[in-house]
Amino acid sequence: MSLIREIKPLEEERLGWMAATFESVLDLVFIADLKDRFIYANPAALKKLGYTREELIGKTGKLIMSERNPKNLREEVLQKTLEPPYIWEGEVINVTKEGHEYCAYLKTALVRNKRGEPIGMTGISRDITEQKKEQEELESYAKKLEKANQELRKTQEQLLRTEKLAAVGVLSAGLAHEIGNPLASISSLVQLLQRKKPDEKIAESLENIQGHVQRISWIIQNVRDFTKEDQQSFMAVDLEEILRNSLQRICLQRNEKRIEIQTKFEPHLPRVSAEASQLSQAFNNIFINAFEAMGEEGKLEIFAQCFVKDMVQISIKDSGRGIPKENMRKIFEPFFTTKEVGKGQGLGLSVSYGIIKSFGGDIRVESIVGEGSKFEILLKKYL
Ligand SMILES: Nc1ncnc2c1ncn2[C@@H]1O[C@H](COP(=O)(O)OP(=O)(O)OP(=O)(O)O)[C@@H](O)[C@H]1O
Ligand SMILES: [Mg+2]
Repeated sequence: MSLIREIKPLEEERLGWMAATFESVLDLVFIADLKDRFIYANPAALKKLGYTREELIGKTGKLIMSERNPKNLREEVLQKTLEPPYIWEGEVINVTKEGHEYCAYLKTALVRNKRGEPIGMTGISRDITEQKKEQEELESYAKKLEKANQELRKTQEQLLRTEKLAAVGVLSAGLAHEIGNPLASISSLVQLLQRKKPDEKIAESLENIQGHVQRISWIIQNVRDFTKEDQQSFMAVDLEEILRNSLQRICLQRNEKRIEIQTKFEPHLPRVSAEASQLSQAFNNIFINAFEAMGEEGKLEIFAQCFVKDMVQISIKDSGRGIPKENMRKIFEPFFTTKEVGKGQGLGLSVSYGIIKSFGGDIRVESIVGEGSKFEILLKKYL
């Protein structure tokens, strides 16, 4: 039998075959005329939608479209099917005869006769409610996983920071021991020379030496302070007083005029569990940084309020130059500084971090380059 002869009967039987296929598939199959009136719906469609064939035939697709679909969705489907590209696919919300709504994935196409003239449309749709639910669940798991991952990374970083601090502690104890004694000798020798009434130039140099000696002692003391492991006994500290005193001292030192300072303390702020001079030092370091970041002009906002149950939150916000993203992780590390050599030791924030952590508190930072930085400190209420 030639190929041509084989194809001819096939074509004639095609419609019958198609109908038989439509009757048995699980997907919902519809055929509609060019005015979107159903002329055929397969048993799966009738079953899912709850209509008899007689009820559905002659009705338009509007009957099974939920009101919750985006406005103009039906018009869009019809337009895309009747005009180029002559197909449409996407999600729609269908509604059954009983009013039950479900999400379906619909594919439509234009049907033409042998002469290529449009005669109707087909639509094949599938209930994807379960699939969507699974996808949403999956997405929510993915989000949870991402959050857990972030927490883990944060904890890891904190751990690393604590380890680093511990290492610095060991090192600094050794350093303090090795450097402390010769330093004390230098200091007393300088004092001795100063008492001998040297001429002006030498006196100036001696003062310089004394200044440097003090700076070295200060560095050692600081590093030791914040890595100190000995159990401290904390007191009930008046946070507002500490903050105000600390601010006042710095403003006096800097002869501050052009920085606007705004404070807002919640009335009856509870006392916090801390050691006053160390807490003051922790705030000092943060304030100094803020002033340095703002330069001549700017605004410093200090807020304190009760936070979750047992904590008080202090927020120190400056309008300074901000901290670049790549530095955000490093600023609490000892010896990290962006200042010129000799200008900063990179100890201020690591000292503050160590102090606040030792009180059972926490410190966080947010910053936008060019806009400013906000340090948020949490301290335990004194109970
Ligand atoms: N408020 C801030 N605005 C912008 N950058 C800041 C701010 N606070 C800290 N930094 C950045 O973090 C770095 C580390 O601060 P940290 O106080 O630890 O050290 P330092 O100020 O450089 O030196 P030191 O405090 O020992 O004199 C700073 O060099 C600076 O780059
Ligand atoms: Mg500093």
